[in-house]
Amino acid sequence: MKKLIVANWKVFLGRSDSLSLAKQLVKIKTSANVVVCPSFPYIYDVNKIIADNFHIGAQDCASKDTQSFTGAINVQQLKELECKYCIVGHSERRMYAHETASEIHDKIALLIEKKITPIFCIGEDKISHMSNKTEEVIAMHLDEVGFKIDWKKVVIAYEPIWSIGTGITPKNSEIKAIADLVKNKVSPKAVLYGGSVSSSNIHELNKIKSVDGFLIGSASTRSDEMSEILAAY
Ligand code: PGA
Repeated sequence: MKKLIVANWKVFLGRSDSLSLAKQLVKIKTSANVVVCPSFPYIYDVNKIIADNFHIGAQDCASKDTQSFTGAINVQQLKELECKYCIVGHSERRMYAHETASEIHDKIALLIEKKITPIFCIGEDKISHMSNKTEEVIAMHLDEVGFKIDWKKVVIAYEPIWSIGTGITPKNSEIKAIADLVKNKVSPKAVLYGGSVSSSNIHELNKIKSVDGFLIGSASTRSDEMSEILAAY
């Protein structure tokens, strides 16, 4: 199976930087399956640049398909933008937008219905990690949204919150244990690792056989980092 590399640009880049990064990225030769998730306003234009090489994705979607949802961007609109993937349940959305398990469940269900692959993020905070509660938190994250979800159609990204943007990653053995746990519990389409992935640790992280790819934040907004990361495949 090809490695799945998901670039989560968050809100790092404005319009001109998004377009110029997209132009740089398409010059990179790789056998990885690459998904680029720009900020919403640039999805259409970035996709025009990358469509022949990479997939376009979104960083979130509305939890309902009602038309009366001011400010929302719904799954049908992502479909029209040709999104093939959509991140859901990212810890930053859980924290800043107070996203609940039931909203995450509804997003995953709507995405599956419209044949967009959800990339569902799960992960423990520092306190849970320090108190050896990681496996418990992961199982809870899966159980609380799991009602009637067809997991074979979902990519799961293990992203420890304490690792996001900190430069600190878990040991390979810890990541492997969680990837195995997730695979045994729900048999998803793929399991990714995310949290401070960069060109300096990609070779080490690639040694974890149970991990099918990576969800990359800040390093994915730099073309030099992405060239080195994608050159690993
Ligand atoms: P990071 O972010 O690679 O900057 O740690 C990962 C993410 O939040 O998806």
